[in-house]
Amino acid sequence: MNVLGLHFGHDAGVAVVRDGRVLVHLLRERLTRVKHAFSLDLAHIDLALAEAGIGPGDIDYCAVTSTQNYELVADDTSALALLPQPHPDDRGYSSLQELFEARGVDVRSRLVGEALERIYDPLQPSEIHRELYPEYRRRSKDASRVSGYLLDYVHASLWDGEPTLEEIGARNYAELKDNDYTRFGLHYPVTLVLRGRRIPGCMVQHHAAHAASGYYTSGLRHASIFTHDGAVFRCGPNNGMFYYGEEHKLLPLTPHHLVAGALYTRVGNAIGFALRGAAGKLMGLAPYGEPRFFDAKFVGNAFDLERRGVVEPFADWWQHCLAQARRLGYDMEALADTTRMTAPVNADIAASTQLLFEETLLAAVAQLRRIGADIGLANRNLCCSGGTALNCPTNSRLFRESAYTEVRVEACCDDSGLAIGGALFAYHNVLEQPLPQASAQARGPLPYVGRNYGPAQLDAALDEYAGRVRATAPESWEQAAAADLAANRVIGWFEGRSEVGPRALGHRSILADARHGANWERVNRIKGRELWRPFAPAVLEEEAPHWFSGCPLPSPHMLFTASVERPDMPAITHVDGSARVQTVGPGDGAFRRLLEAFHRLTGAPVLLNTSFNGPGEPIIETPQEALAFLVSCDLDVLYLAGRRVERLAAGADAAAGGGAQIGLRR
Ligand SMILES: [Fe+2]
Repeated sequence: MNVLGLHFGHDAGVAVVRDGRVLVHLLRERLTRVKHAFSLDLAHIDLALAEAGIGPGDIDYCAVTSTQNYELVADDTSALALLPQPHPDDRGYSSLQELFEARGVDVRSRLVGEALERIYDPLQPSEIHRELYPEYRRRSKDASRVSGYLLDYVHASLWDGEPTLEEIGARNYAELKDNDYTRFGLHYPVTLVLRGRRIPGCMVQHHAAHAASGYYTSGLRHASIFTHDGAVFRCGPNNGMFYYGEEHKLLPLTPHHLVAGALYTRVGNAIGFALRGAAGKLMGLAPYGEPRFFDAKFVGNAFDLERRGVVEPFADWWQHCLAQARRLGYDMEALADTTRMTAPVNADIAASTQLLFEETLLAAVAQLRRIGADIGLANRNLCCSGGTALNCPTNSRLFRESAYTEVRVEACCDDSGLAIGGALFAYHNVLEQPLPQASAQARGPLPYVGRNYGPAQLDAALDEYAGRVRATAPESWEQAAAADLAANRVIGWFEGRSEVGPRALGHRSILADARHGANWERVNRIKGRELWRPFAPAVLEEEAPHWFSGCPLPSPHMLFTASVERPDMPAITHVDGSARVQTVGPGDGAFRRLLEAFHRLTGAPVLLNTSFNGPGEPIIETPQEALAFLVSCDLDVLYLAGRRVERLAAGADAAAGGGAQIGLRR
């Protein structure tokens, strides 16, 4: 059975899932080069189907989701439409449909979306939304919209009121166990019209898709699931939930009403970072400081805070930090000065906000575990998803300090995984298909499910750069790359299909020798980043316990923070002795063989691994983009799917007459 997953919101993407295996996932930003781009177009869907070797006629079912309050936007609304009504062939049951029909509710009256309104507002257009949808310049508002998005799903009476975290944990959820009303309540039947073909499917609630992405790709057969986003101050199911996964069933337990994710992002923004990316930068800044402004009064969900007099969580926390800083005599001139970001006032606000976030999630997850224990659910495993699961120190504290012994976070836990999550939700939870038998390949080649580039495409890309680069084909590109790295060259590494999610996991990476402290600054300069920002290590899986501690091992997605146990890795060791570790296992292709070769040459099984992109850019997708980076940046060497590629000297460059620059806005 082929299920097509479509995510229309920011970090839009298209996924193809066959019998529970993720065959393909293509993020829109990698194709359009607009980071976090939203909306889909037919060419994008066609590309994903072609990569999976199927056409529209082969799709059995579809799942559609979006960002909260983002309508579904596409380029050719005549060939792509979404009708919020069941298809005659739909095999899925929806209690939401039943509920709406019983109450005479027309689902179309519940469809929302304000992204286009904000883009096309003639008086106050939203620049951030315009950045995510640059197509607005050539497309009218009326020509763009396929459908609104459904925010309105079933509600269990247990979710009523304004409960604190403690009160949420104290409620009795027995009636929700094996409850089909809620299990089938977070989707609604729709018909997708794709190039004239009508396909059955469903619209999937945003956090149900997060939960599905986390749980179904975890390899676990039962788990508590926690989801939370980083941008929404609203309470309720659209901001994150507690769920439970058991075999193929995904059971919603309750909203948790946290606002910690949005608070964290807003602090990052207030301290001087652009809103998109603020959370990641704040996480990197926190180890420079001490959590001197932490106050347990701010730990809890929106209703904990409200009862303690904190009505505006971000504003109150920000003012609290500033008041403390002034009282303690900090240099307030440095506040939000991006040229002095590691100054004590900024660093201590970051560290305090980080601790607040960690304590809040520990408190929330403790209640999730309590609920599971109360109603007799197996209670060893935890899956985390949603944008806040990118917070690596928190994930590690959940692993070390919560009562869960297994903590899993999928590579695409942010909205970039929603097309996959939606498709898996539809396949398992709506259509009741069983989990695959446990095996490494059961979920397909995750996280490497991007596009393939064959030899002809690589040759064509190299031809485009003839005269500006010189390519050779070493007998072993892994050995050659290891030798370059051991000689302290910084390399670009382009291998096979690109990885899902925001982290480079060894298929579109910039790599350097972690033993040289100067590489910290050097790689930041190559990438055009702030010089204080840290780098992560990739390490041979079996060697990891000798070099890192305090996080789950293996840790393949670079989503847990470890303590560095050795003093000789300065380029990947943060100022507090931590690192966001990625373990690389025996099945991990040429990247694994490169690490093995480097280990043999140097005795170090570790490399600095960072995403292959410039500032503000999506990760490189195509061979042309990798070559464009090489000729315009200070990379020493590019390894391009088996070839070793060097930049020719400027004279040779000029003599060759140049050529098209592709993709990179530098
Ligand atoms: Fe999300």
